[in-house]
Amino acid sequence: MLILVTGGTGYIGSHTCVELLNNGCDVIILDNLVNSEREVVDRIAKITGKRPLFYQVDATEAAAVDAVFSAHPIDGVIHFAGLKAVGESVEKPLAYYKNNLLSTMVILEHCVKYGVPRFVFSSSATVYGENEVPFVETMELKPRSNPYGETKAMCEKILSDTASRNPEMSVALLRYFNPVGAHESGLIGEKPRGVPNNLMPYVTQVAKGLLPELRVFGSDYPTPDGTGVRDYIHVMDLAEGHLAALEKMGRGVHIYNLGTGRGTSVLELITTFEQVNKVKIPYRIVDRRPGDVAECWADVSKARRELGWTAKRGIAEMCRDAWRFEQLHG
Ligand code: NAD
Ligand code: UD1
Repeated sequence: MLILVTGGTGYIGSHTCVELLNNGCDVIILDNLVNSEREVVDRIAKITGKRPLFYQVDATEAAAVDAVFSAHPIDGVIHFAGLKAVGESVEKPLAYYKNNLLSTMVILEHCVKYGVPRFVFSSSATVYGENEVPFVETMELKPRSNPYGETKAMCEKILSDTASRNPEMSVALLRYFNPVGAHESGLIGEKPRGVPNNLMPYVTQVAKGLLPELRVFGSDYPTPDGTGVRDYIHVMDLAEGHLAALEKMGRGVHIYNLGTGRGTSVLELITTFEQVNKVKIPYRIVDRRPGDVAECWADVSKARRELGWTAKRGIAEMCRDAWRFEQLHG
């Protein structure tokens, strides 16, 4: 299969490219490098021994996207390209709506035009809002408190409506829980610009001494130790989930949670990181972060049943691999 990976030099996209190339797929990356570096293409080639084709193209620009689709017989698209910083989306809602909605519509339009049968979309557990855990795919979605989350829910709707008018298409809406960790080579991983917003990159920067201490956002949640509980998933397990979706999904629209089905608290994650990596993480409990939910974890039975996929790696491997990448290339 020849797969077009938009956002393929980004964090999750680059790991998925490795997984695709290692499993016999050919890969074209389309990325405008707004949040990643061209060097990632070299690193993917180093890991896999195969070099993906790379186009520096903005997915919202129809003419440039058309040139890529018209030049290659693409069998499927994985659409990772998007802006993802929740706080920034509150500051710049229009930039988020424009980039995330328009890129999805332009890519989708070209899939229809060129008869590309498979479309895999990066959605997020954030679409569940304040539902009861565990989150199940059949739940009614609750409103989100930020534009980023809204773009994910809107894209899901755009894709579903389009697929229902194009019965030859297969669309997978993959709702990621909390992707962390890195490829075991330490060559690719998560490299946020500026001070990280998410827990694991913050922890690795504290471990490295780049930041003085971690602030734990709230210890009064109704959870076993009072800190927030999340379903962290190793990015390589997530990458494997994309391959499974591409290979197994039937026609029509299919929604899958990609998580482990297990919750981990902030304090548990800190303790595991310290034990596995033999490094201290100084931390201080502060107020809750606005917009955070107490618990977020997945019911993963649908992906297991229909895709034959389950996450294999645990929290210890996530902490070990995240730290290795931070030390080598963070
Ligand atoms: P990332 O920022 O590392 O990767 C996204 C890539 O898309 C970047 O390389 C960026 O340069 C590119 N991009 C953005 N807009 C583009 C455009 N208009 N045209 C071309 N390229 C563009 O983010 P990631 O963590 O790898 O996330 C990938 C996808 O998964 C995103 O859609 C994100 O919203 C979604 N997601 C991520 C998480 C997470 O925790 N990382 C959770 C749920 C969903
Ligand atoms: C955040 C986003 C969510 C997005 C997800 C993946 C918010 C409100 N939510 O989710 O929409 O889909 O990232 O990109 O931003 N924590 C700390 N200290 C820190 C950082 C985090 O204690 O410095 C805690 C949080 O309160 C939470 C847990 O760690 O309990 C995980 O936080 P984070 O990594 O930001 O992910 P989410 O909040 O799940």
